[in-house]
Amino acid sequence: MKKIHKIAVLTSGGDAPGMNAAIRAIVRSGINNGLEVYGVYNGYLGLVQNDIRPLTRGSVTNIINRGGTILGTARLPEFADMEVTKKGADNLKKLGIDALVVIGGDGTYRGAKRLHDLGIHCVGIPGTIDNDIASSEITIGFDTAVNTAVECIDKLRDTSNSHQRCSIIEVMGRHCGDIAYAAGVAGGCDLIVTSETGYTVERVMEVVNRAKEQQRRHILIVFTEHITDVDALAKKIKDETGFDSRATILGHIQRGGIPTPFDRVLATRFGVVAVQELLAGNSGIVLGLQHNEIVPIEIEESFKMTKNIFRKYAVEVNTNASK
Ligand code: F6P
Repeated sequence: MKKIHKIAVLTSGGDAPGMNAAIRAIVRSGINNGLEVYGVYNGYLGLVQNDIRPLTRGSVTNIINRGGTILGTARLPEFADMEVTKKGADNLKKLGIDALVVIGGDGTYRGAKRLHDLGIHCVGIPGTIDNDIASSEITIGFDTAVNTAVECIDKLRDTSNSHQRCSIIEVMGRHCGDIAYAAGVAGGCDLIVTSETGYTVERVMEVVNRAKEQQRRHILIVFTEHITDVDALAKKIKDETGFDSRATILGHIQRGGIPTPFDRVLATRFGVVAVQELLAGNSGIVLGLQHNEIVPIEIEESFKMTKNIFRKYAVEVNTNASK
């Protein structure tokens, strides 16, 4: 088994609160185990551009409570090209770096798989607010994003109730409904619409009309992004039911902010286990949270997995949720 001496860490794709806590854990536990640790700046872009610098214990001081990622991040679709991947692998090899921890989503994992095939030891950590990585029940950043969304929904409840309005709230998630499910349940929303529940205007009107009959003072409907034009829907609700409506798109607000203690602890656990896996000579794996344990999974296997943790609660708990 090849002994690892130098490792690097990068963050890729959308940033997620808690990524810094993972970087800190990797740097500190790497150094504690006698490794040299490097940071790759701006994700795979920095790998290709050779923006790779040493990290010390001091480099990760005062970051556990900071949102974003101190390493910066980027989206680099070109990294899917094997020639571009090879350039990144060569840059690591030139510096004598044997292993890489990548923090990100599925696209990040695919890059890690290609680097592994080129002889770089790779471990992936799930970091995305979307929670759309099936191999981990929870991803780094999801808890903070849900907290942010619920705080916003609570505020919208106040003003909607005061004005007797319907609030349509659009949350992030790309094509995964988990933020909508979790925030919708915690925010006591009347309807949760995601790509998994499906969407019809009729269903929305039914919920609004029922609330009107019940003389409710407010209606809260949460949508995952990319489903419909929520501003147009708010206007349609007002025109067709007479119930005054407004749409609020939470947007990138959900990606920033101080990570919750849950995200900090989860990220630290992932970071420590990633270093242990590399020291044990393992590669081509991603880490997942399963039944509250951090477990390694072959990257290829992780792509075949599915999960459905939040939707069932949304349907059972929220009487108005789409079936
Ligand atoms: O992957 C996280 C995420 O915030 C998604 O929820 C969203 O669809 C996407 O990133 C937005 O990406 P960008 O910041 O590149 O516009």
